[in-house]
Amino acid sequence: MTLKFRFGLVVGSLVLGVVATTTGFLYWTERSFLFREAMERQEISLRSLSQVARESHLSQDDLMLINYVINLPAKNPDVLFAYVVAPDAKGAPQVVAHSIKDLSGVPLSVLPPAPAGARVLRESVMDGSKSLAEAVVAVSQERVAASIEASLARTRKRIAAVTAAMVVVGLAASSVLAVSLTKPVSRLAQAAWLLGQGKLGTRIQASGSDEIAMLSREFNAMAAKLEKLDEMKKDFVSAVTHELKSPLAAIDSYLELILHESKTERDMRKWLSDIAVIRTHTDRLSRFVTDLLDLAKIEKGAFFIQKSPLDVASTAREVVRSLSPLAEKNGVSLQAPAEAPALPPADADAERIRQVFVNLVTNALKFTPQGGKVEVIVEPQEGRLLCRVSDTGVGIKPGDLGRIFDKFEQVKESRSLARGPKGTGLGLAICKAIVEAHDGRIWAESELGSGSRFCFTLPLKDGA
Ligand SMILES: Nc1ncnc2c1ncn2[C@@H]1O[C@H](COP(=O)(O)OP(=O)(O)OP(=O)(O)O)[C@@H](O)[C@H]1O
Ligand SMILES: [Mg+2]
Repeated sequence: MTLKFRFGLVVGSLVLGVVATTTGFLYWTERSFLFREAMERQEISLRSLSQVARESHLSQDDLMLINYVINLPAKNPDVLFAYVVAPDAKGAPQVVAHSIKDLSGVPLSVLPPAPAGARVLRESVMDGSKSLAEAVVAVSQERVAASIEASLARTRKRIAAVTAAMVVVGLAASSVLAVSLTKPVSRLAQAAWLLGQGKLGTRIQASGSDEIAMLSREFNAMAAKLEKLDEMKKDFVSAVTHELKSPLAAIDSYLELILHESKTERDMRKWLSDIAVIRTHTDRLSRFVTDLLDLAKIEKGAFFIQKSPLDVASTAREVVRSLSPLAEKNGVSLQAPAEAPALPPADADAERIRQVFVNLVTNALKFTPQGGKVEVIVEPQEGRLLCRVSDTGVGIKPGDLGRIFDKFEQVKESRSLARGPKGTGLGLAICKAIVEAHDGRIWAESELGSGSRFCFTLPLKDGA
């Protein structure tokens, strides 16, 4: 059963229920009102008769009373007959006036009894505390019931017409409501289906502040995230392919050259320089595979470090020394931390801290144009060691500073400016995991076009 049908059914039943209850209540109220009204009419007839009887007695005008009684059934069609009885000169009850003309003036005893089903109402005609006569009105219950029934039949007709109109309008409104409420849900389902089919650019209109609009906005945010992840996956695959392919191609071409030239006499220096190039490429491959393995460990929560007292400045100097040839090749000045003053040891994993310096300095060299400067500084700060790698390179936009520490994140514009291998965007994510595993903090400060500063802190051995 579709949501639209179910909704229509519930609202339709509700409309029918409300209409049935309202009309039932109206009918019942009308019926009681008609009964009450009929009773009141009978009481009024009796009271008026009694009144006229008193006035005619006081004014000694029997004719007035007789005329009134004769006309009473015409005024109130429920009245079968009416009369006024008063004692004659001998005290015997005599009919003073009767709605049947011939019965006026006869003794009470000759009056025929009231027919079955008649309701007889009586009231004493009083003059102060003295009873003058008795007014009697007989009402036909059958006529009362018939006149009420006739009125109720008219009411039923009206109620039926109104009910039909209300049901039609109610059902039409409920189906319009059902369609308007379920339409956005169908649109969401359609968009989710498209997303499932791989159309990650699918978005839906989300205006208003109701729950459906909120859901639509969440859907759009989710679709945007999926699209971004997909883009990152594509970038990563192409970066990985590039990172694997280019050193392999270089190694392959050098090996081919060596094989080819080995048939002839070859200079030892040429051998060594070719092997050094091959070594550089295997190093690059090995670093890349290590990065991937590190990332896998970080993702699994199985990334551990082994702390021991570490001379961080000397580790930084070693890294600078090993990367000096690259700096020289790039025409960038690379400065190591000063030898003096000697700093207290940090409590850190030497190999991992070395990895952090390698990535930060490699990045700095990668994004600093010829003639620029890269400087590594290590200094104590508030009971910790603060390490800084500054460059005069291309810089990073403020908007990108927060995301470059996420895995696979690379700044698109600076990728084209990078010198040497483009990388895969894993380095800083791994640096962050390493520094945080040491209870340290890592961050970047930068100004687009002027350079960047990557800083991290490390705890001192025993808080020395
Ligand atoms: N010193 C820097 N100057 C300018 N941009 C930088 C600098 N360091 C990092 N970035 C930006 O941050 C991005 C992420 O750096 P990260 O070290 O994580 O990856 P990568 O160097 O591109 O690749 P990998 O380190 O995996 O080989 C870089 O691609 C670059 O856009
Ligand atoms: Mg890097």
